[in-house]
Amino acid sequence: MAVRLGDEAPDFTADTTTGPVNFHEWKRGSWAILFSHPKDFTPVCTTELGRVAALKGEFEKRNCKVIGLSVDPVEAHATWAVDIAEVTGHTVNFPIIGDPDRTVATLYDMIHPNANDSQTVRSVFVIGPDNKVKLMITYPASTGRNFDEVLRILDSVQLTSDYSVATPVDWKYGEDVIIVPTVNDDDARKRFPKGFVAKKPYLRVTPQPNL
Ligand code: BEZ
Repeated sequence: MAVRLGDEAPDFTADTTTGPVNFHEWKRGSWAILFSHPKDFTPVCTTELGRVAALKGEFEKRNCKVIGLSVDPVEAHATWAVDIAEVTGHTVNFPIIGDPDRTVATLYDMIHPNANDSQTVRSVFVIGPDNKVKLMITYPASTGRNFDEVLRILDSVQLTSDYSVATPVDWKYGEDVIIVPTVNDDDARKRFPKGFVAKKPYLRVTPQPNL
């Protein structure tokens, strides 16, 4: 069955490039990003994995662990990691799941048969410390992901988990946010002491509350 927003992220134990990982145990207390790749030794994936390695500090700042997945075995990932370091200048510094029997890919519905019946698409799952799926995005194999955008959406889901706010179009960390419509004006004055501007009764903006 497909994973949906708000579901508990399916647990699994799998071989990874850093040894066997039990997913829930590995991420305990942290946010996590689980992201899949179609196949090892492919050009777009090579660039993506180098970029994620370069962003390790950004994920750590957000208490977020990252774990990749590709349907090849971990031995192939280890050989590929040498190429990734050579080409991108960044050593892979997070586990990559080996999933040759597609167990994890199937659990997370990462194989889309009309796109390719044996390789995973480029899925991204953002999973909270409560193990609930907070966000999912899917790209086709031919489109590399924008990991600045992945950091941006992580900032948004972390903020909106802690406060009764939503983030507007193109929002970036530090910009004003929207007070959710279920909070009435009296409550909003108490919860958002920096105040708010009502552009419409249903569109009230306030400075980012955790700054
Ligand atoms: C790639 O990662 O470069 C790739 C993988 C599958 C299809 C097309 C591109």
